[in-house]
Amino acid sequence: MSSGAFKSIAIAGAWGYIGRKFLDAARSLGLHCAVYDPGPAPDDLPPDAVQRLDSAEDFLRQRADLFHLALHPEDRRWALQGLLSRGRSESACILCEKPMASPDRPEDCQQVLSAVGQSQAVVLYDFPELYDPITRRIAAVLTGGKQVSIDSIYLQRSKDREDPAKPRNYKRMVHIQYQESVHCLAFALYLLALVRGGYEAVFADGFAIEARTEPYLAPNPCDYQTVPDGKVEYAARLGATTIVGRTDFKRGAPEAKLRIVRGSVDGEPLYIEADYQEGRKRLIINGRHYAELTQTNSYAEVIRTIERWRAELPPGELMGGLYPNPTFAHITYRLSTALFLASRSAELLRIASLDELLGLRSSASSTTHTSGSG
Ligand SMILES: NC(=O)c1ccc[n+]([C@@H]2O[C@H](COP(=O)([O-])OP(=O)(O)OC[C@H]3O[C@@H](n4cnc5c(N)ncnc54)[C@H](O)[C@@H]3O)[C@@H](O)[C@H]2O)c1
Repeated sequence: MSSGAFKSIAIAGAWGYIGRKFLDAARSLGLHCAVYDPGPAPDDLPPDAVQRLDSAEDFLRQRADLFHLALHPEDRRWALQGLLSRGRSESACILCEKPMASPDRPEDCQQVLSAVGQSQAVVLYDFPELYDPITRRIAAVLTGGKQVSIDSIYLQRSKDREDPAKPRNYKRMVHIQYQESVHCLAFALYLLALVRGGYEAVFADGFAIEARTEPYLAPNPCDYQTVPDGKVEYAARLGATTIVGRTDFKRGAPEAKLRIVRGSVDGEPLYIEADYQEGRKRLIINGRHYAELTQTNSYAEVIRTIERWRAELPPGELMGGLYPNPTFAHITYRLSTALFLASRSAELLRIASLDELLGLRSSASSTTHTSGSG
């Protein structure tokens, strides 16, 4: 357990989309911010707002309460490996971005798990919903009864990521199953593991999923060798729970991060509706609105929640329990793979157990859309 409030953060990739979100959140929380990003610094940042680190070595030598690796998986290895080697003798706290590995490099997940296992570091993955007060409230409801069941979960994430007028849309993206559905699948996995008492129990009665997909029409197609999927609609069954999902980054898609959970607690019906859309968050549980939990900045909440967990929990519990740690991130990565394979086969994909899920492989790059195909 650490001694208390975070005072500092070091961010690799701070000028990128997610790095900047965390940089601004950390500054708003009054943290000392050290950044390493060889790219051009943003114009709107006051010169004394951050400590700029000149090299990867400086980043790896930096002292900070929290390290954020705001990097694409292929740019992240040096930072994670470097901090983990340091973590053999100290309990560094590292926040990694998702997905855990590039879609075409599933073997990297196992390497991360082995390296993390040999270090003292606490490594968490950035599934912002799982750090959000909304989810904490939902979890309290789900763990508050003796007999709790989840009958259905609806997962919607949509936004227009094809609009050429939005600069954000020129950032490279990977298949939507890994890029964005992974957040939705993480939410479902978390709730079901909470209610059923662990990951094995979630998959004890098997997992079946079917999906259909549409290609992503990037405003900058020249930056892509193959066309990633940009929309996926899926239906899955996990034991007694039905999951229906829709992740849509196509032109005109509305902004939403909607989750609807139906079930029962001690014989009483349960209906949860949550939207995690920044600036428009909403939580309704059995008709009651929780407005007081929705006026938050998601990235500040990630930092605050990690700070609280570090103060309250031993590293072993954070790394071994139901938290967004590498074990959790690995399962979400394989759920993305299952979703990807199901959408490619256009048939129901059946998986018998957690072990079978973890063994799933997809050669994501070789089974992708070719440019212009549907
Ligand atoms: N958790 C979330 O909600 C969320 C949201 C957006 C993106 N992401 C993930 O974050 C990752 C980054 O995505 P992004 O959209 O912010 O990317 P981006 O391209 O906007 O930013 C990446 C940044 O990393 C910098 N960079 C590249 N190589 C570097 C290196 N070796 N050392 C230091 N900096 C380096 C680049 O200069 C750039 O500023 C992806 O894996 C993405 O899936 C997560």
